[in-house]
Amino acid sequence: MSVYLDNAATSFPKPDAVYEAVDYALRRVGVGPGRGGYRRSIEATRIVFETREAVATLLGVADSSRVVFTHSATEALNLAVSGLLSPGDHVVTTTVEHNSLVRPLHAASGRGVEVTSVAADRRGFVTPDAVAAAMRPNTRLVALSHCSNVTGALQPVEEIGAEVKKRGALLLVDAAQSAGMIPLDAPAIGIDLLAAPGHKGLFGPQGTGILYVADGVELTPLMVGGTGVHSSDEEQPAAMPERYESGTLNTPGIAGLGAGVAFIERTGISAIRERETSLVRQILEGLAGMRRVTVHGPAADEPRGSVVSFSATDTDPQTIGFRLDHDHDISVRVGLHCAPSAHRTIGTYPTGTVRVSPGFFTTDNEVELFLRALREIVGG
Ligand SMILES: Cc1ncc(COP(=O)(O)O)c(C=O)c1O
Repeated sequence: MSVYLDNAATSFPKPDAVYEAVDYALRRVGVGPGRGGYRRSIEATRIVFETREAVATLLGVADSSRVVFTHSATEALNLAVSGLLSPGDHVVTTTVEHNSLVRPLHAASGRGVEVTSVAADRRGFVTPDAVAAAMRPNTRLVALSHCSNVTGALQPVEEIGAEVKKRGALLLVDAAQSAGMIPLDAPAIGIDLLAAPGHKGLFGPQGTGILYVADGVELTPLMVGGTGVHSSDEEQPAAMPERYESGTLNTPGIAGLGAGVAFIERTGISAIRERETSLVRQILEGLAGMRRVTVHGPAADEPRGSVVSFSATDTDPQTIGFRLDHDHDISVRVGLHCAPSAHRTIGTYPTGTVRVSPGFFTTDNEVELFLRALREIVGG
């Protein structure tokens, strides 16, 4: 039996409706949206519009034109960071971010943007007070992940949002490990920019992502070019969402994403959260019973998402990952998880950790198989 425990990288399997929607868009619709007045193209436009509406509703956003489709969370974060910041701006971020945010910020610092990284504690948490203390009069942006992809720590984004608003800056949240898994009302929290992959908790295919851009926030587009509207203008259209969506959209991917979000709506995000919390508890309890294993991250009753990282004395993460895969057909992720600074923060650099991330479709039995296999590998 094959066991997949790397849902933090991409969710698998997807709900059946996702495969069907991709197939329908590719086989039956076939064409791109907004490029023709014929019925086939109008059908593609409808698919894209309905997905945009569904994502907006999930995030508490009233105006769906503020939801921009991208190819990944990484592209969304690049658009947010490089589109917003100018030389002389100051940004506050944290020491537990993914490279998808770290690298655009690093590139911005090469263009004269100042970046301050607030230190997280060893479980991966930052405090609103520490974020507030790092802010300056020229702080334009506070940028951080909602849920750490290394430790699972869930940041107090509401309290951080309040501090950010008090000081007149903008808040960018990387919701890669929370969108679709943890209820998130972006406007209510005071989020100005929210980046999310379509292919993790939202159950869409790879090659999908979104950026929510709050009303009044203006970004320089990452790309300009074909938008299917305002064809006689040389300037990129000002209208949302076309301003940030150049090139023919990934209609099959967006169709699948729409079906993924519809599945979340049908199931209820609270039910998804409850199920994943129960799986995480089962994993943490199992790991707690292994004397050679150390968990790096919050306890089950602390604010956390569906990611569990651990290491073991005498067996390195790579060996554990290899043996889980080859001897037991169990897929987990090992190493630095694209977040080296997070590992420096929690004391697991440079070896990294073994990361286990169950998803909504993971069964208790699969977790049990993983725990049994791990016990055999690390020796009790
Ligand atoms: C916290 C975090 N941010 C960003 C990303 C990048 O997502 P994507 O693969 O959609 O670019 C990931 C996924 O690996 C992640 O875990």
